[in-house]
Amino acid sequence: MAADALPPFPPGFLWGASTSAHQIEGAVDARGPSVWDVFEARPGVIRDGSTAAVACDSFHRHREDVALLAGLGMNAYRFSVSWPRADSPGGLDHYERLVDDLLAAGVRPVPTLFHWDLPASLDWLDRDTAARFAEYVERVAARLGDRVHTWITLNEPAEHTVLGHALGVHAPGRTLLYDALPVAHHQLLAHGLAVRALRAAGATDVGIAASHSPTWPLTGDEADLAAADHYDVLMNRAFSDPLLLGRYPEGLEQLMPGDVAADLEVVSERLDWYGVNYYAPSLVGAPTGEKSAYGTFDVPAGLPFALHEIEDRPRTAFGWPVVPEGLTQTLTGLRDRYGDRLPPVMITENGCSYPGLDDQERIAYLDSHLRALHRAIEEGVDVRGYFVWSLLDNYEWNEGYRQRFGLVHVDFDSPERTRTPKASYAWLRDALRAQR
Ligand code: BGC
Repeated sequence: MAADALPPFPPGFLWGASTSAHQIEGAVDARGPSVWDVFEARPGVIRDGSTAAVACDSFHRHREDVALLAGLGMNAYRFSVSWPRADSPGGLDHYERLVDDLLAAGVRPVPTLFHWDLPASLDWLDRDTAARFAEYVERVAARLGDRVHTWITLNEPAEHTVLGHALGVHAPGRTLLYDALPVAHHQLLAHGLAVRALRAAGATDVGIAASHSPTWPLTGDEADLAAADHYDVLMNRAFSDPLLLGRYPEGLEQLMPGDVAADLEVVSERLDWYGVNYYAPSLVGAPTGEKSAYGTFDVPAGLPFALHEIEDRPRTAFGWPVVPEGLTQTLTGLRDRYGDRLPPVMITENGCSYPGLDDQERIAYLDSHLRALHRAIEEGVDVRGYFVWSLLDNYEWNEGYRQRFGLVHVDFDSPERTRTPKASYAWLRDALRAQR
């Protein structure tokens, strides 16, 4: 148990937890299918053979979730709106109820408009999906915009491109490798169009949740440095450069579809803040001729880089290394690269998978990462909020229910999906109390 109080964070700091619709809602019959429903039905793709048909049943039990947030003393909740639900009759009623209950509990609603659950009839390889996204965003904003002020357009377009379309381990399960790049461009375009739609609806606090993993070269050798740079471009700068600078890193623009120069004007619409999801750094070297691993996923041989284990660090149950200073590095690195083009930052996800209710490892993880975040603030990065991934144990994509990221345990065998706060819940509640 971490003993010392955390250093004080700036006044007005947002303290929240994050979830996403597909991972917690269930109630699959009350909406149209998403690419994830289709993917989960394929034999063998989800490690424990499960589906998200019920998940945490938050569609029916959202009041319990709101009470848990209030009990933590959090002032914000990042959840996502399911696009297929919003397209289904009465689907937006659910989010209206959730928003009203959050506001009544003094918790700021922070909806993400796309967290990977694309309607099954759509495809990010089609440019038109970006325009369809903007129409859907317009509808959500028309319904909730009088009560919701803080919006997130997309969650991790990089992971959705790479895991879903390049490596095929997430929905929709494509293995296009570099031919997946149009998926990145169309999501970025969708983001820019959504920012415009939100602004037209009067929104004044708009951001995105982008994953960032500081890339560490395996050695100082030229081949390793070049491979690490290439990886950093693909996973980080291919997204943050167009968003914040209005251009792709060298060599990428030619690989993107459509009138890229005109699209970049849209992609780089001004943001009120920039959301960072941080889990761990990546250690990257020159290709070895063998397959390597990205987390628990295989990265095929034949790519111009190979991933390596970061040794001598504690590991989460997912096998991810625990590297708090990577968070400081990510934030100071963004500030150094983008200067005054970087708006204020929020940590929109950070957390870890561990089993059990007495989750001392999660307490140590959160404590060390909050201290690392505070260091970035001391070094001059303007950070406005921090959201833990996740409020609840939930459906961890192709891992099914095997990885538990929650501050709150969920019993997936009980019909009530019984929620039990873990030791980390009490620790965070007390840490937040000490901040007031
Ligand atoms: C995603 C979450 C996911 C978490 C842990 C992030 O990449 O946004 O949906 O559950 O990481 O894997």
